[in-house]
Amino acid sequence: MTTTGTEIPGPAGLPLLGSMLDLKRDSLGTYLHAQREHGDVVRITAGPPGLRVEIYGVFSAEGAQQVLATESANFRKDNPFYEEVRQSFGNGLLTSQDTDYLRQRRLVQPLFTRRRVDGYAASITDETSAMLATWRNAPDATVDVAAETTRLTLRAVARILFGVDVESAVDVVQRSFPIIGEYTLTRGYSPANFPRSWPTPANRRATAAMDELYAECDRIIEKRRADGDAAMGEDLLTLLTHAESDEDTPLDASEVRDQVLVFLLAGHETTATSLAFALHLLARHPEEQTRAREEVVRVLADGRVPGAADLDALPYLTKVLKEAMRLYPAGPVVGRQAVAASEIDGHTIPAGATVVVAPWVTHRHPRYWDEPERFDPERFTPEREKARPRYAWFPFGGGPRACIGQHFSMLESVLALAMILQEYELEAVDVEVPVSTGITLRAAGPARCVLRPVGRGTGPA
Ligand code: HEM
Repeated sequence: MTTTGTEIPGPAGLPLLGSMLDLKRDSLGTYLHAQREHGDVVRITAGPPGLRVEIYGVFSAEGAQQVLATESANFRKDNPFYEEVRQSFGNGLLTSQDTDYLRQRRLVQPLFTRRRVDGYAASITDETSAMLATWRNAPDATVDVAAETTRLTLRAVARILFGVDVESAVDVVQRSFPIIGEYTLTRGYSPANFPRSWPTPANRRATAAMDELYAECDRIIEKRRADGDAAMGEDLLTLLTHAESDEDTPLDASEVRDQVLVFLLAGHETTATSLAFALHLLARHPEEQTRAREEVVRVLADGRVPGAADLDALPYLTKVLKEAMRLYPAGPVVGRQAVAASEIDGHTIPAGATVVVAPWVTHRHPRYWDEPERFDPERFTPEREKARPRYAWFPFGGGPRACIGQHFSMLESVLALAMILQEYELEAVDVEVPVSTGITLRAAGPARCVLRPVGRGTGPA
């Protein structure tokens, strides 16, 4: 029998607040429990009467596919969370919709072809070498891989975007992003907010951070335009400024800025999370770490620096990253708004509903994964991948709005991982690393690892 709206099962929560406090305290745990106790489609209510929101969680692989891919036109990015991201980080590719979106994607897609992205490999390996050089002097030979990978991925994406102007941009992003991110998130999940224009302390602080960030991007963009074509390099900003297609007008200065902001937002903490947890998981699993290093040593003879062409020859590293992204998907929950009613897994989700699909939950669904909490890169052999439904694993989303940075991120992570394993053996100091869900999933505490130089690399003897 089909259930509809309020008949759809879900946690009862508190009489007045529903599941509001649970979601605030531990949103991922709340969704996971809801699936375990109530099934693949659940209804969760949150907030006091009058401001109450209903969230429909869709947790089967087939349901996720329906929301993100086969019925994507019915599930739009109109929810309050994306609205706040749009207001903080602009109307770029992540947040725009309809004709705006289609035009932007046509203009930006050519900058993310595999060939183009492979051209960024040298920037990634240079930045990784610079990071490894600092590791040689790490106090107590210990590093926090969460902090280190965040710095690395920010530097890499900023360098790819801005070329020579990387230093000042990195400083500004490091200062402003945490403030804007926290503010956006708090607003995105509050049942009601003061208008952004009111001079509250939170609004003022966030506005100052946004002004600084926008001004820095505008300054670099303006400088490029003033320098003219001759001074332009091959960085992404130059390509964005020149992006063209037969049917579209080119991006104007503020549209270029919006894309830059989205790449900074979507392109660094996400990859940092995957890479940090891949390293930390290997640091806790010596056998898998040895196997990964053996592959690296075999493929990169004499400790040479890897390049994009090596990616296909490092399948075990790719499996390690996929497994790290299964357990720690950087976008653990993806939200949409239903336009019309839709039937999913035998339940009718009403028109106007807030719908979430959750890699965090589907990636732990016992129907697709044995012992879901166990780290096992062998889950990603081609045969086993083929035997699972397409959306049992979807850290990059799916359908027409799937991540444009997927190859970039895999390339960056595999290259960095290979270079780290060439030089160091890692052993975890912090065995359990808690996570927090901001705009993306992050390590909520340090993920410290002790470094032991290995074999040949260029590390200390
Ligand atoms: C491990 C790394 C990454 C993960 C897990 C990830 C995850 C995601 C997910 C889940 C979405 C879909 C969001 C939705 O449907 O609401 C998405 C979209 C997007 N991502 Fe990523 N991402 C990663 C890296 C990157 C990088 C490196 C970039 C850029 C340099 C990037 C740029 C984008 C953009 C622009 C979109 C919007 C695409 C569109 O709507 O057309 N991401 N990402």
